[in-house]
Amino acid sequence: MLRILCLALCGLLTRTRADPGALLRLGMDIMNREVQSAMDESHILEKMAAEAGKKRPGVKPIKGITNLKVKDVQLPVITLSFIPGVGIFQCVSTGMTITGKSFMGGNMEIIVVLNITATNRLLQDKETGLPTFKSEGCEVILVSVKTNLPSNMLPKVVNKFLYSTLHKVLPGLMCPAIDAVLVYVNRKWANLSAPMPVGQVGTVKYVLTSIPTTTASYIQVDLNPVVQQQEGNTIEPADAGEPLEFPEDYAKGSSQLLLSAAFLTAELALLQKSFDVNVQDMVIGKLPSQTTETLAAFIPEVAEAYPKPKPLVAQIRINKPPTVTAKTGKSLLHLHGTLQMFAARRRGRAPVSLFLLEIHFNLRIQYSVREDRLQMATSLDRLLSLSRASSSVGTFNVKELTGFIKGYLQEAYIPVINDVLQVGLPLPGFLDMNYNLAEVDITENALLLDLKLD
Ligand SMILES: *[C@@H]1O[C@H](CO)[C@@H](O)[C@H](O)[C@H]1NC(C)=O
Ligand SMILES: *[C@@H]1O[C@H](CO)[C@@H](O)[C@H](O)[C@H]1NC(C)=O
Repeated sequence: MLRILCLALCGLLTRTRADPGALLRLGMDIMNREVQSAMDESHILEKMAAEAGKKRPGVKPIKGITNLKVKDVQLPVITLSFIPGVGIFQCVSTGMTITGKSFMGGNMEIIVVLNITATNRLLQDKETGLPTFKSEGCEVILVSVKTNLPSNMLPKVVNKFLYSTLHKVLPGLMCPAIDAVLVYVNRKWANLSAPMPVGQVGTVKYVLTSIPTTTASYIQVDLNPVVQQQEGNTIEPADAGEPLEFPEDYAKGSSQLLLSAAFLTAELALLQKSFDVNVQDMVIGKLPSQTTETLAAFIPEVAEAYPKPKPLVAQIRINKPPTVTAKTGKSLLHLHGTLQMFAARRRGRAPVSLFLLEIHFNLRIQYSVREDRLQMATSLDRLLSLSRASSSVGTFNVKELTGFIKGYLQEAYIPVINDVLQVGLPLPGFLDMNYNLAEVDITENALLLDLKLD
């Protein structure tokens, strides 16, 4: 019994310890923008005024002032700061005029300048698994209170009374507005874990591995990207060996996204089948038309077998999952597979296999971002190995073919790969992030997107 329990628990433990394949670092730049735009979107000013006008059970009106109205709420100035281990401290400085009929009968105006402060604790929503802010300890600090009554008509005791009443009443008026703003910020995480398509072949979604952490200068969200084939199988990323880490030299206050090479590898596994290509066209890119005569220059037996030139047809099959590697400034796509060359025959007749080569080559990847997707464009880096698996045209020296094969890959194969890669890889959607201004850097075992705000 105990053993079964342990097996179940240990299984759970290893499952939950997923290595993050993507790290998101949110600096103050993005948090400021988010809270500001949430303030605008939530119409906080109108809300504050509306809240103030409402009669709520349990909230006493300001004694001695009737017909209470709030007008001229000033544009709030928001100051945010990170609280390590907790979240964000928020201070909203604003001012407003409270009008009413005074206890002495006349119209009264109270001009209040105040700070509303609250701690926005960063949590992980239990239901959705998304990051969520929850405000705690909302307080209203009166910076100044002025009335239109001459000071001699407002004895100290009344003044004191006014202060203490405002202290009691204002949090009820102002704090719901702070909460309303957070609702808007929280909503902007909604699509983070939604599956996003990679062409027709699968989806990617980003799931939080743990509660986001807050330091003195950023919030870090560790994400476990789930790559799934259209048929529903999940592609597990290979163990990266080393933990994913941000390089240290980023601008203070800025935001970054780090994607591990292992995660990119898992995404490209979705496309592996599309990397199998049949090359039939006679005129290929910059190459002249490819016939058995072209090959005869390297393999004399081809000339004997085909005195009349026949067009070449090639089949390239990738038989191992493609892998992405990254070293500072350089990222490669490794492809292992076979290249089988055929001589075409008249219509309706199957082409004849000339030879089958085992092939391993690297493509250099250039990254960019378009329409919030990571784009890759490749070019041939190196042909790492080439060996003859079978041949119907004798035992030729495969080295002689190296130059020809390289040209063939570059002109005939890589353009097809680049076409396939145009689907783009989806990036995590959160807080209205516009990735199109991001700068992409290749670092150790990862890709760093320096997120620039528009
Ligand atoms: C009100 O907030 C502003 C801006 O954060 C700050 O400079 C000021 O000291 C605060 N005033 C009080 C009385 O807390
Ligand atoms: C989430 O995705 C839906 C559908 O694409 C979109 O209409 C909506 O605006 C997105 N929400 C956010 C908060 O980005």
